[in-house]
Amino acid sequence: MKKILVIGACGQIGSELTPALRKVYGNDNVIASDFVFPFKNEALNNSGPSCKIDATQIKDIADCVKKYHIDSIFNLAAILSAKAEANPLMGWDIGVGAVLNCLEVAKEFGCAVFTPSSIGAFGPETPADGTPQDTIQRPKTIYGITKVTGELLSDYYFLRYGVDTRSLRFPGLISNVTLPGGGTTDYAVEVYYSAVKNETFFCPLKKGTFLDMMYMPDAIKASIDLMEANPDKLIHRNSFNVTAMSFEPEMLFNEIRKHVPDLKIEYRYDELRQNIADSWPNYMDDSAAREEWNWKPEYDLQTMTVDMLRTLKMRFK
Ligand code: SER
Repeated sequence: MKKILVIGACGQIGSELTPALRKVYGNDNVIASDFVFPFKNEALNNSGPSCKIDATQIKDIADCVKKYHIDSIFNLAAILSAKAEANPLMGWDIGVGAVLNCLEVAKEFGCAVFTPSSIGAFGPETPADGTPQDTIQRPKTIYGITKVTGELLSDYYFLRYGVDTRSLRFPGLISNVTLPGGGTTDYAVEVYYSAVKNETFFCPLKKGTFLDMMYMPDAIKASIDLMEANPDKLIHRNSFNVTAMSFEPEMLFNEIRKHVPDLKIEYRYDELRQNIADSWPNYMDDSAAREEWNWKPEYDLQTMTVDMLRTLKMRFK
């Protein structure tokens, strides 16, 4: 990767991946783009080249790729699971439109393309415990349908046109820079904010609802490592199961209570999110990623909780 375009640079992943890429590849070699421009995020605006890209408009992507001689595209545009259920057509237009546009441009200009997939690409018929790399994918959300479609399109462009497509099935991502917004796993981010602000947290999922999770620094590292991986070693491409931990709400809250003993929780179950969570894996088998490109997370629930609380306490003190 020499000249990189990030689409959705202001989102939950982009706002941390873009600075990380700029650190590794040089500020001028990483072009940040988002739908709203100029960005509200001053640091992103000022630390390197940036532009407006509406990912549903292929011309926006093609013009930028041409102008900056881009060789690698990180396509991070998406509407998360619960939000997409409120507007399925928009979920489809952005989720699938962005992938297809990126793949077409990549075919034309010889770029590699990274697109995140998700635990949402699985459904109720998928084995929930130790979910295999290759298994049944019949998601029941529009978000999941866009993710499976993205995986299939990426395979198609790789096999048919040789486009270097790569992807990760991310679990819930926990971060302290940009809030996710509209996802099923968001509770695991929001509770940390409630903990440091001394506010009661209303948990939308029931006790016992296990989901895979990952701390953002590991997700950033995984994205860059996969894009740098030797293509000859990749048996799978679209898309790799990756996980760092699996927990249910009580396990998370008890871990936070070790540092914030008076954490206040009320369970207020949200039917939409609960149904979605119930249709997703409890924990995935990510051995293909470990074997093919040495995936190994650094953070577990304990170390992530220490870092999340330390960072948020500094911000909200
Ligand atoms: N974090 C996403 C969501 O909850 C799943 O990939 O929608």
